[in-house]
Order: sequence, then C-alpha cells, then structure tokens
Amino acid sequence: MDKLKRKTHDAISQILFTEDQIKNRIYELAKTVNEDYKDKYPIFVGVLKGVFIFMADLLRKIDIECEVDFLAISNYSNDARRRGVVRLVKDLDIPIEGRHVLFIEDVIDTGLTLNYLLRNLQERSPASLEVCTLFDKPTRRLIELPILYKGFDLPDKFIVGYGLDYYEQYRNIPYVGTLRAEIFQQSACNSIKLKQGL
Ligand code: IMP
Ligand code: MG
Repeated sequence: MDKLKRKTHDAISQILFTEDQIKNRIYELAKTVNEDYKDKYPIFVGVLKGVFIFMADLLRKIDIECEVDFLAISNYSNDARRRGVVRLVKDLDIPIEGRHVLFIEDVIDTGLTLNYLLRNLQERSPASLEVCTLFDKPTRRLIELPILYKGFDLPDKFIVGYGLDYYEQYRNIPYVGTLRAEIFQQSACNSIKLKQGL
C-alpha cells in the first residue's frame, strides 16, 4: 500500500459497507430496474458530484436501452436549503418532457435538496419520475419523499467513500465508512485556512 493510500484509509474509523456488499446490492437494484423499465427507454438523472461512482457502477449493470444526464447544484447551508434555495449550476442537457426519469441519488439525509430538485423536474412534465438512492438516513428526514429503490439504510452518521466526500476528500475510498473524530476538526480548519488564503 502506498503512502497516500495508507493515509486515506487511516482516516476511517469504521467501515459500514464493504466494496463487495455495495457491489452485490447494486446488482440486485439493477436487476429490478431492468425489469421495471424495460420498454420505457428511461433517463437516469444524477446530481454531481457525489453520485458519480454509484451511477457508473449501476449503469454498467443496466442492460436496457437508456440515456444518462447530470445536474450540478451549488452548496448551501441547511438553512438555505430549508427555504428551498438550491441553485442549479448545471442543468440537464436532455429535455425530459414525456420521458420516464429515474433520479439517482447517493445519499438522502434531510431530503431538502431532493425535494427541491424533484419539484423542479416535475414542472418539466416527465411521463414518470421515481427515485433510486444508494444510501438513506430515514431518521434525519425533514420532508417525506417517495423512494422507489433503496440500497441501504444508514444510522445518523456522517459517511465518506464511494463518491461521498468530506470537504471534497475521500470520494475515492472504494467502501463506505465513518471518519475519525480528529479528521473532522482538522479538515474544517484547513478548509477555512484555504478560503482565507493562509
Ligand atoms: P439533504 O438535502 O439533507 O438530503 O442532503 C443531501 C446531500 O447532502 C447529499 O446529496 C450529499 O451531498 C450530502 N450528504 C448528506 N449526508 C452525507 C454524508 O453522510 N456524507 C457525505 N455527504 C452527505
Ligand atoms: Mg447527492
């Protein structure tokens, strides 16, 4: 194991889901989606960046004809999201009117971001709009959302890996785990210094 890799893995205090567990669950989800969406020519829509690894792995197990597209949103505080303030920084390239859309999420926490995005997409009159999330934190939910496909329930913990970040780090970890407590303090501190140009 090289130095960088050892450092990345050292930041993890507990592994919640291994690479194999995630792979097997995605295979099961894809089987259901292939069956449910055959003859529907769906569009898989994801929000960057957290979903990029899940989308890549899921799509390679999808064997029906489909399209894929991405949205990107700016980061806002919990308070702003609660007021429904989520700014699209990249919109879809493909029109979704009359199309079957499957919204792919990495993790749903309060549900505020997804709620905003679903309302935005619904206004474009898709034929159907459903949600598939790899991870869900049901105990943190502030708004009820319809979730058709779910990979795993999570406890109320902050997780990283498999595309999920903490201050843009740890997305490359192939499994999902919790960060060691001191990493939280250290990273927050470094990020503030970076922003201040120190
Ligand atoms: P929500 O609006 O509270 O549901 O926030 C959802 C977004 O917050 C996700 O798409 C992630 O980008 C981020 N997020 C929520 N929980 C976690 C976590 O445990 N690790 C990393 N990112 C998370
Ligand atoms: Mg997300």
